[in-house]
Amino acid sequence: MIDVGKDLPKKLDDVPGWLSYGDQLVFQWLLEWQSRTQEPSDLVEVGVYKGKSAIHLGRFLRDGERLTVCDLFDVAGSEETIRDDVRRAYASLSQDEFESNYLAFHDELPEIIRGLSSLITDHVSAGSCRLVHIDASHMYEHVRGDTFAAKEMLRQDGIVVFDDYRTEHTVGTAAAVWEAIANDGLNPIACTAMKLYATWGDPVPAQNEIRAQVSQRTDYKLDPVFVQRDLPVLRVVPAKKPRPAAAPASENSGELRKIAEEALAKATEALAKTSGGGRIERLARKVRARIKK
Ligand SMILES: C[S@@+](CC[C@H](N)C(=O)[O-])C[C@H]1O[C@@H](n2cnc3c(N)ncnc32)[C@H](O)[C@@H]1O
Repeated sequence: MIDVGKDLPKKLDDVPGWLSYGDQLVFQWLLEWQSRTQEPSDLVEVGVYKGKSAIHLGRFLRDGERLTVCDLFDVAGSEETIRDDVRRAYASLSQDEFESNYLAFHDELPEIIRGLSSLITDHVSAGSCRLVHIDASHMYEHVRGDTFAAKEMLRQDGIVVFDDYRTEHTVGTAAAVWEAIANDGLNPIACTAMKLYATWGDPVPAQNEIRAQVSQRTDYKLDPVFVQRDLPVLRVVPAKKPRPAAAPASENSGELRKIAEEALAKATEALAKTSGGGRIERLARKVRARIKK
């Protein structure tokens, strides 16, 4: 039952979750590029939490396309194959909350699979997807399974996105991702601080699109990094804001300095006879030295 009484999110950032603005952009660039250049096909997310990234994916569905999501939700409490700390972390998660969040942004729910991500290929046909987002368990054996499932569900030119591919608390994800790159023909396209975007097809067309998108912006830039000499990954990073130039000395700065010195002299004189007078005098000397610079 959806709890219609509680406050519904109005914008994506009202939904708790882990989708940064930079990753929202990269998803948008890739999904809109696919929509412009490729036949319709489906989207999948494993690990939805309260729906932040699923809601974002749902924004790019075209007519006839389907989003399938999978999460343990409240099954986490009784699922023996997950670790206790994961069970505790998601103890209060409910499918109702996911659904009400999702429906605050979209007219229809996606197809929802409640249970382990290993169930996903029972519900999604082989070769039917253009993008799969893997963000469920971060244990090696699970991410490895999710990676095999993604390869099966994706079209040849489809894109897989891994969350937490390099963070120190998710070494299992890193192990599975780099194994697929090193031994299973997975080609990185781009990376951000949190996510790696990759394909078992040709990464160059997607990289060209990201280059074109970033070239039109000033808030993000590309810093290509290399897995090996012929395997570039486009690192998408926020562009540093230029430092404001030092303020020019104003025309009346000499006059202001004189006023400040006079005020300082009066204050020092007035306080000299109090118990903290010595300290005030030392402080005044420091301030005078700064005013003269
Ligand atoms: C990091 S959260 C997902 C965050 C979400 N994608 C977002 O951007 O807001 C991980 C989710 O994966 C789910 N999960 C953990 N292990 C799972 C498993 N083995 N199968 C399916 N879901 C799992 C948890 O219940 C949790 O909701």
